[in-house]
Amino acid sequence: MTKTFHFYIVFILICCFSIGVFSCKSLKSDKRANKKKEPINKDLLTYDELNKEYRDLIEKIGIRNGYVIADVGASLGIDDFSLSVLTDSNSYFIQDISSEIFKKKRFKQMQNYFNSIRKTPQTNKLQYVIGNERKSCLPDSSFDLIFLFNSLHEFTYVKEMLDDLSKKLKPNGRLIVRESTSTSEKRHIIDGCYTTAFTMNEIKLLMKSSDLYFYQQLYPDSNLVNIFIFDKNHR
Ligand SMILES: C[S@@+](CC[C@H](N)C(=O)[O-])C[C@H]1O[C@@H](n2cnc3c(N)ncnc32)[C@H](O)[C@@H]1O
Repeated sequence: MTKTFHFYIVFILICCFSIGVFSCKSLKSDKRANKKKEPINKDLLTYDELNKEYRDLIEKIGIRNGYVIADVGASLGIDDFSLSVLTDSNSYFIQDISSEIFKKKRFKQMQNYFNSIRKTPQTNKLQYVIGNERKSCLPDSSFDLIFLFNSLHEFTYVKEMLDDLSKKLKPNGRLIVRESTSTSEKRHIIDGCYTTAFTMNEIKLLMKSSDLYFYQQLYPDSNLVNIFIFDKNHR
C-alpha cells in the first residue's frame, strides 16, 4: 500500500516537473520569437531623415572629420550612430554607467543598420565605454568634443564628473551640453525623471568650477531645450 502510494507521489512530481520545464521553454521561445519579429530599425530614421535632423547640428557644433568624440551618458548611442552616417574618419566613444545598455548583439545590429544607410563605406570607429557615478573612465586629454546630451541633470556627483570630463578634453576641446533649462522665474521639471532643470546660470557656474568656460549658446533663451558650448579658453 505504502509502496503504491510512494509510486503515485513520485509519478505526480515527475509530471509537474516536466510540465514546468516545458512551459518555461515555450515561454522563452515565445519571447525569442517576439524579439525576432521586432526589427532593430523599427524606430530608426532613414538617411534623409537623419540628414534633416543632424546636418544643422553638425554645422553649428562644428563637427569636423577626424575628430575624437565622447558622448557621456549616451544610453544606446543613437546620436553617435546617427552622426556616423553623416561624418567621416571620426572616433566615437559611446559612454554610460549602465552596462545593461551595451549589449554586443544590439551594437552589431545597430552598426549594421547605420552602415547600411551610409552613401559610402563606413570610415568612423565606434566603441562603448562604461564609467561609474564619479568617473567617465575615458582616456585623458583625448577629445575634440565631449557631448552631454540630456545627461548633466542625471549625474549624482556633478562636480566630480565635470572635473573628470574637463581633464578628458584636448587643450582646444569643447564640451557640448544639450539640456532643458529652467529660468529664474520658472523652475522646469524634466520630462520623465522628476528632476528640476538647471538654469543657464547654474550650468555656467558648475562648469566654471571645473575650469570650463562659456563660449556659445546655440538657440534663443525662449527654447526649452538649448545647446551650450564650453571650453577651457574663454575665461
Ligand atoms: C536621459 S538619458 C540621456 C540619453 C541620451 N544622451 C539622450 O539624449 O537620449 C541619461 C543617461 O545618463 C546616464 N548617466 C547617469 N549618470 C551618469 C554618469 N555619472 N556617467 C555617465 N552616464 C550617466 C544614464 O545611465 C542615462 O543613460
